[in-house]
Amino acid sequence: MAPPSGHLFLLMGALGVLAFDGFTGAQKNSTLIFTKENTIRNCSCSADIRDCDYSLANLMCSCKTVLPLAVQHTSYRDRLTIWFTDTSALGLLLNFTLVPDLKLSLCGTNTLPTEYLAICGLKRLRVSTEAKHSSPEQSLLIHDGGECQSREKPVGSHQGGPTCTYISFVDMALFNRESSLKSYSIENFASVASNFPDFSYFKTVPILSNKSYVVTFIY
Ligand SMILES: *[C@@H]1O[C@H](CO)[C@@H](O)[C@H](O)[C@H]1NC(C)=O
Ligand SMILES: *[C@@H]1O[C@H](CO)[C@@H](O)[C@H](O)[C@H]1NC(C)=O
Ligand SMILES: *[C@@H]1O[C@H](CO)[C@@H](O)[C@H](O)[C@H]1NC(C)=O
Ligand SMILES: *[C@@H]1O[C@H](CO)[C@@H](O)[C@H](O)[C@H]1NC(C)=O
Repeated sequence: MAPPSGHLFLLMGALGVLAFDGFTGAQKNSTLIFTKENTIRNCSCSADIRDCDYSLANLMCSCKTVLPLAVQHTSYRDRLTIWFTDTSALGLLLNFTLVPDLKLSLCGTNTLPTEYLAICGLKRLRVSTEAKHSSPEQSLLIHDGGECQSREKPVGSHQGGPTCTYISFVDMALFNRESSLKSYSIENFASVASNFPDFSYFKTVPILSNKSYVVTFIY
């Protein structure tokens, strides 16, 4: 029979591992990507940086320049913050990308056109607009972003992006509005897609062809 102290020792060891995991989890860096004057910088930050403070980000975070041509659609597992000034750079970085927890900050004073940004597996979205000093950051929780996976060889996915059955369309024009963030979700979207003949996205987006999708509009 093993002496009780052996069990205690094992238990303490296990607790130690848990405590250590918790500690390193709290120290985890978050990814901040910003675009400015045709440059894309991809940063790993240990602290939250005030929106659109590019020089502070360059100082406090560990950043690398990404060439626009080298941008690949990847998946982001953790929190991702993007500071952007126009929709083209944002589309290049994010369209059809898997991001569960996303913050978008519009830097500068551009008025954005109505154009949709498609995000896979989105669970939390936060938005802010630098020009609107009065209105604070807005936040939206999407009840179920689903469990999306980026597979080796996605079937019918867009630009080699993740295969995903939960897809959110974010209306870029929401950054111009004073109204609060709103969303609605349609489940089993494939069966009702024909109810949206004017929404041309469903023709251009091959992933919306066969499976059953949960589609969320954010506006
Ligand atoms: C930014 O860097 C992270 C790792 O720190 C990487 O996973 C991600 O793909 C990069 N994004 C771009 C657009 O380069
Ligand atoms: C975390 O961010 C700090 C700067 O804020 C940087 O020096 C460090 O290399 C980053 N760690 C990782 C693992 O990226
Ligand atoms: C995202 O991709 C769709 C389909 O290719 C395109 O119509 C849309 O304009 C893109 N959105 C942005 C913000 O680039
Ligand atoms: C996809 O949909 C078409 C009809 O729209 C159907 O004939 C086909 O069997 C479906 N494929 C799968 C894999 O469900």
